[in-house]
Amino acid sequence: MSSKFELFTNNMVVAVGIANLLNKNSNLPLKYTGNNILLDGAKYFVEIASQGVIGCIALIMENANMSKTFHLCVHPDFRRKGIARKLKIKAIENCQTSYIFCTIREDNIASMRLSLSLGYISVKKLCNYDHDVWVLGKRVEMRESRRRSEICRL
Ligand SMILES: CC(C)(COP(=O)(O)OP(=O)(O)OC[C@H]1O[C@@H](n2cnc3c(N)ncnc32)[C@H](O)[C@@H]1OP(=O)(O)O)[C@@H](O)C(=O)NCCC(=O)NCCS
Repeated sequence: MSSKFELFTNNMVVAVGIANLLNKNSNLPLKYTGNNILLDGAKYFVEIASQGVIGCIALIMENANMSKTFHLCVHPDFRRKGIARKLKIKAIENCQTSYIFCTIREDNIASMRLSLSLGYISVKKLCNYDHDVWVLGKRVEMRESRRRSEICRL
């Protein structure tokens, strides 16, 4: 069945939207460009509204057992609507390893709460220049992983 909507855009448009969102709204030391995003090897999940990319998260496989999410960000006008939760769940569902982790600044209460509510546990604390960062991880349940459910259906 054909889709009701077709999205006419290209990867660079989305990548620039992600870079702009991160540059304006995340407390990151680097400034990103569309090329940085396209070339970083991660898979991105995005929320798009009329003004472009308003939410994103990146997922990358670190090794055979472990994946990482990063660059979680939601535009301030769209916060507290469940977008970050939806994006993070989507990333977990698409994770192809048994474990997934993320790093969160100690003072980022919103992101800490979100991860803890999704079953992440604090693994260790790292000192990072002027602030501390928590590493949080979780085991990916079989029902959460689309890849494994697809394998089961074969
Ligand atoms: C953190 C961030 C991604 C949350 O996005 P969001 O779409 O507003 O989050 P959600 O609406 O999906 O909320 C999910 C949960 O996070 C927690 N949370 C979100 N915002 C919060 C806030 N301001 N204060 C406390 N808890 C908060 C809550 O537990 C919430 O669940 P609830 O609504 O059932 O209580 C967003 O604030 C953001 O982009 N911040 C700047 C970038 C950033 O810090 N990224 C994370 C880096 S690790």
